[in-house]
Amino acid sequence: MGLPISREQAIELLKKYNSPEDKADFNHFLESEVIMKELAKKLGEDEEYYAMLGLLHDIDWGITKEDTTKHLTKAPEILKEAGFDENFISIIVSHGYGFDCAGLKNKKRETKIEFALAASETLTGLIYAYAIMRGKKISDMETQGLKKKFKDKSFAAGCNREIIKEIENIGITIDDFLKIGIEAMKKIKNEIGLE
Ligand SMILES: [Fe+2]
Repeated sequence: MGLPISREQAIELLKKYNSPEDKADFNHFLESEVIMKELAKKLGEDEEYYAMLGLLHDIDWGITKEDTTKHLTKAPEILKEAGFDENFISIIVSHGYGFDCAGLKNKKRETKIEFALAASETLTGLIYAYAIMRGKKISDMETQGLKKKFKDKSFAAGCNREIIKEIENIGITIDDFLKIGIEAMKKIKNEIGLE
């Protein structure tokens, strides 16, 4: 599963279609990348490939977010032009299954890597919101505290717990997944404005 571009080139691609001033969006890209990488390590899968999926999954967000039904309509051509193959592109698009965008509402994820991407990119929001609640502190965040927030549906209500739960489809428990997410995001805490 070779990748056609380097991480540096992927960051440049993100900057081309997303405004670097939209810090929250870039934080989300980096968080998705690092959780996917950590998850791949746990699964014994290709860490660079998983990381690239996380990093680029919302590549067209900056040019579609004013009309979210257009999200993922531009990503395929952007990624194809950058040299990514159909398989990579279809995995990226699968994180929009179930949402009212790009005609994906009634599609269902099926493969391990699709579940991994959707669950990982969704988990970023829960961990970030919890860190903010804790005064931006993630360095001493523990799984049990996050688990309580996971169960409290009123906390970060926009964060879809059902998608995070899709991780169970690939043999990872919620507890293990929350731990993976925290450990991963701790590694880039300074880059994403946390402590
Ligand atoms: Fe995302």
